[in-house]
Parts: sequence; structure tokens; C-alpha cells
Amino acid sequence: MEMLAKKIEEKPVEKILDKDAQLTPRRIVGELDKYIIGQKNAKRSVAIALRNRWRRQQLSPELREEVAPKNIIMIGPTGVGKTEIARRLARLTNSPFIKVEASKYTEVGYVGRDVESMVRDLTEISKNIVREERATEVSETAKANAEERLLDLLLPPPVSSKKTADEKIEMDEIGHKHYQETREKFRKYLREGKLNERSVELEVEQRILPMIEVVSNTGIEDLDINIKDMLGSIMPQKKKIRKVKVSEALTILTQEEAQKLIDMDKVIKEAINRVEQSGIIFIDEIDKVAGRESGHGPDVSREGVQRDLLPIVEGSTVSTKYGAVRTDHILFIAAGAFHVSKPSDLIPELQGRFPIRVELDSLGKEEFIRILTEPQNALIKQYVELLKTEGVDISFAEDAIAEIAALAALVNDRMENIGARRLHTIMERLLDDISFNAPDQQESKFAIDAKYVKERLQDVIKDEDLSRYIL
Ligand SMILES: Nc1ncnc2c1ncn2[C@@H]1O[C@H](COP(=O)(O)OP(=O)(O)OP(=O)(O)O)[C@@H](O)[C@H]1O
Ligand SMILES: [Mg+2]
Repeated sequence: MEMLAKKIEEKPVEKILDKDAQLTPRRIVGELDKYIIGQKNAKRSVAIALRNRWRRQQLSPELREEVAPKNIIMIGPTGVGKTEIARRLARLTNSPFIKVEASKYTEVGYVGRDVESMVRDLTEISKNIVREERATEVSETAKANAEERLLDLLLPPPVSSKKTADEKIEMDEIGHKHYQETREKFRKYLREGKLNERSVELEVEQRILPMIEVVSNTGIEDLDINIKDMLGSIMPQKKKIRKVKVSEALTILTQEEAQKLIDMDKVIKEAINRVEQSGIIFIDEIDKVAGRESGHGPDVSREGVQRDLLPIVEGSTVSTKYGAVRTDHILFIAAGAFHVSKPSDLIPELQGRFPIRVELDSLGKEEFIRILTEPQNALIKQYVELLKTEGVDISFAEDAIAEIAALAALVNDRMENIGARRLHTIMERLLDDISFNAPDQQESKFAIDAKYVKERLQDVIKDEDLSRYIL
């Protein structure tokens, strides 16, 4: 047992980060290509930035300290894939990753979340990742231990007979052997699930203070006072005997055993290490805090948020409930549409902390055709599958897809350009009838062609006022 626990703890950090070794820039771009059409420059930049995290890990400790991350700012109109790139990137990398919205933060001293909380949240995410990894590592051992405990409950071992007279020992050995045999039989039944319906009495910790948990979600969380932990150590732990089914008991005991096997201090140390060495914070909607102090209204705090962001991006120490976290090597990727404001509206100091700028292209008909069909989660595929669940078979002719794309581009031109989001509104409108009638449809095959697209949408397209509301 002890040896096993040791082996688990000594698994080196590098092993886990090794998974990132295979993530070359080319691979990263390849993965992003599966979901995002075009935007080559943006993909390349984030891929290089991500790879640089790994490269830095390979350096000697002294040099490693010197290499600062090259933060990126992605600029592009609405609906062209900025957030989508972040979302997909998050699933690719094994680094702790968080996506936040700049507009959610307020200057220190104002009501709302202060920017430091993004680092706290990232640390929490990292902790969960590491704990999850450890839990997987110990799961076999935990299961085995739980099984033993459950067998003890089902078949209490005979009381030690050491104190009895000498001549009885032989008998006891036979008795012991007999017990072992029965135990193994029970084990077999247990594994076969034959005992699942039986009940056992289990001592479980009672969840106390549910009220506090609710309260602690409402803002004081940022004070980083873990009230439950605090009170928990004062109040005596309440245990309760519960009668549970064997199958449930196995789950409970396995969880308990896993908890015993995981050294939370080590988990936290490792979690903080990962945040500091390879954490990534994606700040979306950065343009919403751009704009210098205008002197009136709520704008005043925008510049404040930017000022608060400076030290974090630059490198400072944020205290979290798990300990101090240094932000020097966290990679920041910011994104914004910058419709109203320009990147140059950000305070100069902050601009300087994002040395890499990439612009995303606005999308036209050709891109729309590809977006509709190519990505693994392409809209057309989604609708086809959704309707299939109703037994309705729809197919799109090539000219139908071209027509949808052309209309989306047209409406974007004529009204507001909302990028690929326009495809969603157009598709909804196009399939409105089929969607509504699908469950009680006699006809179960629909071949959608350009003619159908035109028919369904021409009224709305012709009437600008109408399309303003519907599309
Ligand atoms: N280049 C693209 N390839 C595939 N899908 C895209 C592309 N651009 C946008 N989309 C789709 O359009 C929708 C909106 O994209 P996204 O959320 O990335 O926009 P954004 O650039 O972050 O816009 P905003 O500035 O308004 O936040 C998503 O469903 C996304 O999948
Ligand atoms: Mg976005």
C-alpha cells in the first residue's frame, strides 16, 4: 500500500506536460482548422504562442525565468471566430486555461469582480485538473481498498483469538482459513454484482452547513475566506450511520479511499506551479474596457479596469486561497471587435503589454459556404442530425448552400455585419417550417435546393424592415 502511494506521488510534472510536446504549431493549426474556417494569421499566432510555452519549459531554470510570454491581441469584427478560437484552444492544451470577459470586471473598490479574481479562478481550475489526474491515478487502489472495507462490513472478521489458550490456536487457524474462503466467495459475488441488492450499514460524514455554502457564493468568495473550512475545523465532525445498498456503499467507500490517497498539499503545490509556468488567460471583449476616461458616467471605471490589469499582465503576485500565485509567465490572449473603440484607445501601458497583434478577416460568401459544411460541428450537419431524431431526412443541394451563403453575405452587407452568426438566423428561418412540422410529418424526405431557399427567404430579404427583425 505504502509503496503504491509513493509511486503515485512521484510521478513527475514533466510527464504530464509531455502531452504538449506533440502539439507543434502545425498540429495546433490543424486542430483549429477542423472548426474554424480561414483566419490563418490568428491561428498561427496562437499556435506559436502556445508552442513557446512548451519551449520555455525545456530551458534551464535560469534562462526560463528570463523568457516572458508574448501576449497577443486579436482584433476583428464581430462573429468571425475570435471566441471560437479561444474555445477550441482551451480543449487542445493541457495547460490551465480560462476565458474571461473584460466587461465583467470592475475597478478595485467598486462593486463587482476585481481583475485579480481571474487568477484565482485559474488556480481553482488548475487545482481541479490536478486533483482529477490524481484521482484517476489512485482509482485502482481506491477501488481495491473500498472492496476490502466493504467485505469487512459484509463479513466482519473474527475477533482476534491471541488471548485464548494455546491448544485452541490450531482450531482458530482452521477457523481463519474458513473465514478467508468465505471472504473470497463473497468477493466473487460482490464483483459479479450478486450482492448489489443487499444493504449494509455505513458510517458517513454528514454534510453540515448547507446554508453557508449558499451564502459564500454571493461575492464574499473574493475575500478568499473559506467559511466552510473555518467552521468545519471548529465544529465537531458529525458522523451518521446510514443504511445503503451495497452498490452505493462501494461508490461511497471508493470516494473516501480516493480522498485518503490524494495528498491535497501536493495537489495544490502542483496546481499553482502549473498556473505560474503554463497558465493561459483569454480576455475576451477587451474593447469593452477601451476608451479613455471621458469624465462622465460609468466610463470612469473602464480605465480603472485597464490600470488594474496592468500589474497582472506585467507580472505580480496574487494571493489566492491556495497561496500566492505569480503571474509573470501566464500567457494573456486578448480579443475584441473594436467596432467603436480602437486598440489605440487602450491605455498605452496596456497596449505595450500585448506586443503581438493579429487581425481577423471579415467573412464573405466563400467562407460562409465552407463554414456551413466543413467544420466538424458545421451548421448543416447539426440540422441534419437534429431532424434525423424526428425521422426526417433533409439534404442540401450544393446550389442551396451557395444560396444561403450568398444571402447571409447580402444581409450582412445591407444591415449590420454580424459575421458567421448571420448563418444561424438564416438557417433558423429557412428550416422554420420543417422544424415545426417535423414530428407530425408524413413526408420524411426533404431535398433542399436553391429554389426552396429563395422561396422561403425572398419575402424577408426583399423587405428590409422585415429582415431587420427576423434575420
Ligand atoms: N471563421 C469561422 N469558422 C467557423 N465558424 C465560425 C467562424 N467565425 C465565426 N464562426 C461561428 O460564428 C459564431 C460566432 O463566432 P465567435 O463567437 O467566435 O465570434 P467573435 O469573433 O468572438 O465575435 P464577437 O466579437 O461578437 O465576440 C460561432 O458559432 C462560430 O462557430
Ligand atoms: Mg467573442
